[in-house]
Amino acid sequence: ETRFADDIEAILRLKRERNAVILAHNYQTPEIFHCVSDIRGDSLALAREAQNTDASVIVMAGVHFMAETAKLMNPHKTVLIPDSRAGCSLAESITAENVRALKRTYPGVPVITYVNSSAAVKAETDVCCTSGNAKRVVETVAREWNTDRVIMIPDEFLAKNIQKQTGIEMLTWPGHCEVHEKFTPLEVRQYRRMHPGVVVLAHPECPPEVVAEADYSGSTADMQNLVAREQPKKVLLVTECSMSDNLATQNPHTEFVRPCNLCPHMKRITLPAIRHALETMTTPVEIPADLFPAARRAVERMLAI
Ligand code: 13P
Ligand code: SF4
Repeated sequence: ETRFADDIEAILRLKRERNAVILAHNYQTPEIFHCVSDIRGDSLALAREAQNTDASVIVMAGVHFMAETAKLMNPHKTVLIPDSRAGCSLAESITAENVRALKRTYPGVPVITYVNSSAAVKAETDVCCTSGNAKRVVETVAREWNTDRVIMIPDEFLAKNIQKQTGIEMLTWPGHCEVHEKFTPLEVRQYRRMHPGVVVLAHPECPPEVVAEADYSGSTADMQNLVAREQPKKVLLVTECSMSDNLATQNPHTEFVRPCNLCPHMKRITLPAIRHALETMTTPVEIPADLFPAARRAVERMLAI
């Protein structure tokens, strides 16, 4: 669209001038996702790819914790978040002191932390996980630590969904994603009635009762792969709105029916905000030196699993 053309042109020029790459999460709006980003994916792919770039500047078209993870993997690069208010209700739900208290209550139990968390919380963590590898990380940690219970924070619903899949007991925390907690089982049943045969994919940040109504559950990359592979006639993605917008352009033969919940944090990242970030080199993400080694280790252990 012409209203985007000026910003897109400026961003493409600035990327060359600054030797910058733009990493975009699957929840970014289509003009960001398709027109200016270099690397696209779920939280796991963005954490992995942040390791592999040789650009000098990384712009995170995502939320703050994703920019922090990119910085942990690239201490010598400049990592910019185009709007530093782009937070996450899960990351906000827990502090490092809360984690230390859990560890005092359950000594010796391994701590697995969802990447949707601050660097300070990661620094108290044994291994991080994302929704794309949570099951594998939990099973690996349980085997290696020879335990049948883990502390899995801060997403209560992710923990309960993974407990159902693995049978491993989760000591968790009442953090929720403000986007996915809004979905209800009733809503999913109503969509099924209105659209017979619809394939339902739910993100594991949804309440377990919602996941129980779905045909599949997985990260945003799992959803993308499943739709590309199975090419369902109709699909319902129980997740953030932009996911369906982005997949719809890649899967013209699939109809997307959707309950639409927006993430206000993801939506703070806009083309003008990205342009401004590259023009002014703002806002660089910094991680306090005393937290850095322990936080990085938790992410590195995850990437090694
Ligand atoms: P994934 O893309 O890893 O599935 O995460 C979803 C999410 O809510 C990120 O904030
Ligand atoms: Fe956080 Fe949920 Fe937004 Fe993802 S969608 S950034 S988990 S609030």
